Amino acid sequence: MPEVRPIVWDDEGLQLLDQRLLPDREVYIPCKNVEDVAKYIKEMVVRGAPAIGVSAAFGMVLAAGKLAGNCPNGQGNGSGSAAPPGFFEGLRDAAVLLKGTRPTAVNLNWAVERILKKADSLKGENPGKIHKELALEAVKIYEEDIEVNEQIGRLGAGLIGKGSTILTHCNAGALATAGYGTALGVIRSAFAQGKDIRVFADETRPFLQGSRLTVWELQKEGIPVTLIVDSAAGYYMSRKHIHYVIVGADRVAANGDTANKIGTYSLAVLARENNIPFYVAVPFSTFDFSIKSGEDIVVEERDHREVTHLNNTLLTVPGIPAGNPAFDITPAALVSAFITELGVLHKPNRAKLAEFFRLE
Ligand code: MRU
Repeated sequence: MPEVRPIVWDDEGLQLLDQRLLPDREVYIPCKNVEDVAKYIKEMVVRGAPAIGVSAAFGMVLAAGKLAGNCPNGQGNGSGSAAPPGFFEGLRDAAVLLKGTRPTAVNLNWAVERILKKADSLKGENPGKIHKELALEAVKIYEEDIEVNEQIGRLGAGLIGKGSTILTHCNAGALATAGYGTALGVIRSAFAQGKDIRVFADETRPFLQGSRLTVWELQKEGIPVTLIVDSAAGYYMSRKHIHYVIVGADRVAANGDTANKIGTYSLAVLARENNIPFYVAVPFSTFDFSIKSGEDIVVEERDHREVTHLNNTLLTVPGIPAGNPAFDITPAALVSAFITELGVLHKPNRAKLAEFFRLE
């Protein structure tokens, strides 16, 4: 069982580790229904592309449970009558609610669609049985995510030389997934192999995923980590302190353009200028082949108070206009390689991606 567990699904139901309170307090919030899950995804109780996908899958299960309870004979697993059309309509409403919470990370759509597909394959079964099968599917999504991250970690560690220093941005760790992490999975794996690595973590303004979450996770496992302000990355690169940059992703377009936390694009440009490999550790579920290029990726604009305030303290002039895009797009040409569970793809482009994933 992973040491850091952002999502817990057990006899008590679904509980999410409230990431807004880290690193000060470790508090789990119970989710009673799909509305709770949608609210907590939107408010960043749970965040990180794979973690919100997994949480949404469990949100769909909570919706199915409630719909089954409202059907005659709904909770039974035996020979009750087939789920009525209203059951499936209710599931679709839940899907719309969940998908509307955060627009950029594609894993949310991917996981919700997978649950809907499973439900469609069970048409004719009674609601209780469908509910149980959907719960099994969501657990599968959870478990597969950890396995995928471990595989990304193993493959990525092969790229890392002994005694090197890795810069990472935001939090693409256990907290951003079901467990283990993507970018931090590579770091965990390289560390476990005794590669004597060090990490530089960007603080990641304005939500501070780096200083609150990444540093917390790495320190827990004794992986040496130094916190820097985002704007110090170029300085450290130019002074040869950084050997690799490794980040996660929220959505990758068919041509390899990559959406990730705001500030990632600047790091990729700096890495290219300083001849430093820029790796994106990313599961297959984060690729969106329906989107041709990064231009078509919707970037979430978050509350400007995240920029102007820290908790309730105003950091600037009252009423000043602010911008707060949560993500940016790194062109594929700046990505040295994608580290996926299916292998490492160097110098990605549209044709290579299609061939790599056997899409044509
Ligand atoms: O706004 P967040 O915290 O959800 O953004 C998270 C990121 O940008 C991560 O790098 C990305 O989701 C990959 S997590 C494995």
